[in-house]
Amino acid sequence: MLVKIKHKCFFFFLLFSLNASFVKLWASAFGGEIKSISAKFSGSQLLQKVHKRKELVKSVKVEEIDGVKLVKNLAVKMEEMFRKKAEATRRLVEAAEEAHRQHEENPDLQYEYFNAVLINEVDEEGNNVELGGEFILEPNDHFNNLSVNLSHSVVQVPTNMYNKDPDIVNGVYWSEALNKVFVDNFETDPTLIWQYFGSAKGFFRQYPGVKWHPDEHGVIGFDCRNRKWYIQAATSPKDVVILVDVSGSMKGLRLTIARQTVSSILDTLGDDDFFNIIAYNQEIHYVEPCLNGTLVRADRTNKDHFREHLDKLFAKGIGLLGEALSEAFTILNDFNQTGRGSVCSQAIMLVTDGATEMYDDVFEKFNWPERKVSLDLAFRVALLFCTVLTATHFFLNFLLSLHFFFRSKCTF
Ligand SMILES: *[C@@H]1O[C@H](CO)[C@@H](O)[C@H](O)[C@H]1NC(C)=O
Ligand SMILES: *[C@@H]1O[C@H](CO)[C@@H](O)[C@H](O)[C@H]1NC(C)=O
Ligand SMILES: *[C@@H]1O[C@H](CO)[C@@H](O)[C@H](O)[C@H]1NC(C)=O
Ligand SMILES: *[C@@H]1O[C@H](CO)[C@@H](O)[C@H](O)[C@H]1NC(C)=O
Repeated sequence: MLVKIKHKCFFFFLLFSLNASFVKLWASAFGGEIKSISAKFSGSQLLQKVHKRKELVKSVKVEEIDGVKLVKNLAVKMEEMFRKKAEATRRLVEAAEEAHRQHEENPDLQYEYFNAVLINEVDEEGNNVELGGEFILEPNDHFNNLSVNLSHSVVQVPTNMYNKDPDIVNGVYWSEALNKVFVDNFETDPTLIWQYFGSAKGFFRQYPGVKWHPDEHGVIGFDCRNRKWYIQAATSPKDVVILVDVSGSMKGLRLTIARQTVSSILDTLGDDDFFNIIAYNQEIHYVEPCLNGTLVRADRTNKDHFREHLDKLFAKGIGLLGEALSEAFTILNDFNQTGRGSVCSQAIMLVTDGATEMYDDVFEKFNWPERKVSLDLAFRVALLFCTVLTATHFFLNFLLSLHFFFRSKCTF
């Protein structure tokens, strides 16, 4: 009498770990399979009700779905879908690299491109404005009925930047080569929705072409470089061990600031990063004892979980940094061996009210075992001090210093 879905926990876990837009995307990628499953599922609940009323029992069919087969089937399709997406992205990257290689920067380059804001705009005399021009747009069901142009991408430049800045014009010029790839990709894989390219110069190329409208102040605040996807791609993944001083001197306000500091450090970490937090006085205490000796992904759940544990910290005793540093180095080193996490960006963040000693021996042992270099030369693992007294200035510097360390360590 029931539609059984074996392993339904697993299956639903897959569903729930996705956000709504993904589910939508996947549902169409699976050819509506998810939809029909949920229809069957709710249908089964209906059947149960009917059954309870002991009516119509005979007219109801028994259907059993093999959950394992179903999940396997979905996995194959999912893999196929991801493979296609990865393939499309790879083609874009190759085209971009090639076009960029071929291009010679020309500061006097004049080039008219389709600016997402200016297309189809006319001046008082009815003439197309510069960088505007006539751009044919048609409503398209696949793009939520937005009016799009499937043969051209458009370029958006943040309002605070000059549309005809030579850097932008050169970038827009060479990235024109992506147009063809965008179109090909969409033809090859019609489940694709938007394809876009965010440049470090600040322009944003989007396919298919659409018209952008500024807000009521005439401003378009969008800068692709501030978007999460851009930052995640641009900053390399990092493994970070945060050491928090909980010695007696940290009592009261200092500990409060230290907690906030740690919490803000967590904010700067993203899904690609791994971390752990160790509190130390004369002993070391993993903030989350269950995660002793390892690093965890800096996703939202883990970060929130650690934040809760931060409240349980209390200050007493004396602070002996040496052992905590050794532990941090050991975790980072072990973690690197697992092949997870980042290959070259590891950092120890130290949150304390005063780290006067430099612990040269720890550094010599772990950071450069093969060479004896002084600490102010290249670190293999970046050590970033953050005294609680400077906590407010700290965040401005945090990303900068990470960037600096990792750029200098990972010069390609
Ligand atoms: C896109 O816009 C260009 C420029 O207006 C036009 O030549 C082309 O036909 C349009 N493509 C489509 C598919 O409408
Ligand atoms: C797009 O418009 C058509 C016709 O106006 C309508 O049938 C369809 O449901 C719309 N699609 C979306 C995604 O809004
Ligand atoms: C971590 O776990 C190991 C083994 O369970 C234990 O020996 C060790 O004392 C723990 N370390 C800390 C700092 O809790
Ligand atoms: C991590 O391991 C890789 C490969 O073995 C090595 O090249 C890299 O230097 C290691 N990183 C650190 C920080 O030790």
